[in-house]
Amino acid sequence: MTRTTAPPVTVREVRPEERDDVATLLRRAYGAFADELPPDLLDRWLDDVVEPGDAVTLVGHIGGRLVGTARIHLDGSRTAALPPGSASVRAVAVDPDARRSGVATALMGECAAQARAAGATAVYLHTAPFMHAAAALYERLGYERDPAHDVDVAALYGISGPPVQAVISAYRLDLVPRCRVIRPGQGYAGRQGLTYAAGLSAESAGTRGLCLHTLTIPPGGRAKAHRHEAHESAIYVVRGKAVVWWGEGLAHRDEMEAGDFIYIPAGVPHLPINPGSEPAFAVVARTDPNEQESVVLMPELDDVPDRSTS
Ligand SMILES: CC(C)(COP(=O)(O)OP(=O)(O)OC[C@H]1O[C@@H](n2cnc3c(N)ncnc32)[C@H](O)[C@@H]1OP(=O)(O)O)[C@@H](O)C(=O)NCCC(=O)NCCS
Repeated sequence: MTRTTAPPVTVREVRPEERDDVATLLRRAYGAFADELPPDLLDRWLDDVVEPGDAVTLVGHIGGRLVGTARIHLDGSRTAALPPGSASVRAVAVDPDARRSGVATALMGECAAQARAAGATAVYLHTAPFMHAAAALYERLGYERDPAHDVDVAALYGISGPPVQAVISAYRLDLVPRCRVIRPGQGYAGRQGLTYAAGLSAESAGTRGLCLHTLTIPPGGRAKAHRHEAHESAIYVVRGKAVVWWGEGLAHRDEMEAGDFIYIPAGVPHLPINPGSEPAFAVVARTDPNEQESVVLMPELDDVPDRSTS
């Protein structure tokens, strides 16, 4: 099994003659956190991380040089009890000289591919709060925090006394589609000048082809003129009234009230306003999984006469 990605990182299983290089790489990479952990705990951690057990150890090469490693436990982790059907990743490290070149990304991709091929439903891993690069990497790859599976490594290794950082954080990557409930949380200010309630999107729920939000336009409120590049929008007015100026030069005007739907095609300039004295509340769906990426502001239309208040 060989995989090549761009930049040219080759990922494959470790060969026996490379095991010492892997151990050296792991000790160097994890040893860099010496200031963060009591020595006893660091030593136990390093010994544990270097020990491959019956896991599959992967190595990444650039230009023939071994620059990274990761390990996939296809039957779960030795570190923590995990839900049935889970695989776990451990011992991810990249040579400092080769970082930010996609080495870990390539290794993690192969870990997930092997877990999927083995029938796993999720991949778990643990990382310490001070491993900021690792957390950024895992979140970038779609892993989500799963605090229910955090592990107190001091207790695990039988280290007594109050260690500085003893709890390592669990992250989970789902390998099968799952339903998600998103609770109403903090809203976000859209680039188009309106405030949206956090809803369903690639960011919040991992959607692939749509996003769904609620929107409140306060009395007298208005958006900035904008369009959604290449994505359609569908809006349902739940309460209140709205006016939408739309089209070339915002030449067209439509009024909407509770119970009305409006369809906004991709690329069509529009500018919604609430001319009423009550908040206008609407449900907004778009064929774009990302909340804001397709918003293109059109400031040249913001000052079209009579388009700002009614
Ligand atoms: C964490 C680690 C494995 C990342 O390896 P890497 O090969 O540099 O990672 P990649 O190049 O694949 O990075 C992919 C993405 O992860 C994120 N990322 C990686 N390193 C980051 C850093 N130092 N700061 C912020 N984000 C980072 C970025 O989103 C990056 O994409 P970008 O470079 O396009 O911005 C490496 O820094 C390392 O070995 N650290 C020490 C050991 C360790 O912490 N292991 C993890 C234990 S759980």
